[in-house]
Amino acid sequence: MAAAAETRSDVLVLFGATGDLAHKKIFPALYSMVERDHLKEPIIGIAYDDWTVEKLAERAHDGIKAALGKVDEKVFARLVGLLRYVSGNYRNQATFDKLKEELNGFRHPLYYLAVPPSMFEPVVQGLEQSGGAVGARLMVEKPFGRDLQSARWLNRVLHIVFDENSIFRIDHYLGKEAIQNLLYFRFANSFLEPIWNRNYVESVQITMAENFGVQGRGKFYDEVGCIRDVIENHLLNIMLLLAMEPPSGRSAEDLIDEKVQVLKAVRTLTKDDVVRGQFAGYLQEPGVAPGSTVETFAAVRFFVDTWRWQDVPFFIRAGKNLPVRATEVVVRLKRPPLDVFDTIAPDEANYVRFRINPEISISIGARRKQAGDEMVGEQVELSAVDDSAGDMEPYERLIGDAMNGDVRLFTRQDASEAAWRIVGPILDDKSQPEIYEPGTWGPAETMAKFGPPNGWVDPAK
Ligand code: BG6
Repeated sequence: MAAAAETRSDVLVLFGATGDLAHKKIFPALYSMVERDHLKEPIIGIAYDDWTVEKLAERAHDGIKAALGKVDEKVFARLVGLLRYVSGNYRNQATFDKLKEELNGFRHPLYYLAVPPSMFEPVVQGLEQSGGAVGARLMVEKPFGRDLQSARWLNRVLHIVFDENSIFRIDHYLGKEAIQNLLYFRFANSFLEPIWNRNYVESVQITMAENFGVQGRGKFYDEVGCIRDVIENHLLNIMLLLAMEPPSGRSAEDLIDEKVQVLKAVRTLTKDDVVRGQFAGYLQEPGVAPGSTVETFAAVRFFVDTWRWQDVPFFIRAGKNLPVRATEVVVRLKRPPLDVFDTIAPDEANYVRFRINPEISISIGARRKQAGDEMVGEQVELSAVDDSAGDMEPYERLIGDAMNGDVRLFTRQDASEAAWRIVGPILDDKSQPEIYEPGTWGPAETMAKFGPPNGWVDPAK
């Protein structure tokens, strides 16, 4: 039996507690939750390493300091007061029996699987066999499988033990303030709706640029590549929010249903819809296989076959070692039907720009007349910049939501499979990706011919 939707989980069990994600993201999030009084429940860390709770706390301290710049020792002491540690092999039932003893008295654990997908099955089975799955919730990290087949298989494995309402598949982008804002801006304003369709929108482009390489994650990255790492999940999710119909109500299901409708309408990709690149020097990164053909850059063209979006190209590009660190969406409108003043250059159409990273803003690009005798115009941008200082970080928001049983910002089973269907044909391409120099916008020659009509908009620093 699952925990009822309104029941808050009474303990958090973190699998992979000694891992990189826990260090960089999860402990800083737990610390912030404690600081805001959003977390008072015990946290049981679990991992293979033969650590003590003191060692785990020390490592957590280090991660929190690195992520947040400082640690308030009083808050940290409160976090440590909640912390326990169990060590053991996930393939050994004794580990789960030990965990079950620790869980004595708790009725609704939230199990957070910050471990590779290959570990999902043994963990879920271990929980089931120890009797620990009753009344519990399960939160699982990305990547959710490697393709449609493995995602389906994972879903089957999880569903043997947990029902869909108890499963929380994370995509941390959905927990970002800027992504929430995008959804809000679209459906809280009526002026957008008449133009938000194929009659007015020329193209949509989403850029996720990172000005750093694989940062010591070469082994992980080399098994994944850019399309699996960020396009199939984070960036496709942004595209869904841009393309979806207004939800008919406020419930999580209403929202998720509309996203799934878009996913169903996105055309399955072909090799002609993608440009793949690899930064020069990638092969020398520790952990990368000799001669690897994994892409560190990809640009992909999507079409959404609906009345609203027929023939409007949606372009997504992402990569490591690009010139800036920024994520942006530009929705470019068609030019006026008649250029009365004869001054508008082809790439000077109106647009809406959503800046998602590093800061949050929404801007509208417009033309206005320059002062003077001539009817000559200039581009201006009207911006609403969000001061996000003090906002919750995605992991903080999402762990809190999962503790509360709120599924709104998580990926439902049908969505987790549909996204893989779309990208399936462009995965695992073993041909050599084009090499690009670090600090450039991908393979220049090919990219000059591949992109939205009237070109890409490179995010500013
Ligand atoms: C992760 C990817 O999911 O998202 C990383 O694995 C990427 O490769 C990261 O760097 C980007 O997240 P953010 O929140 O920093 O934009």
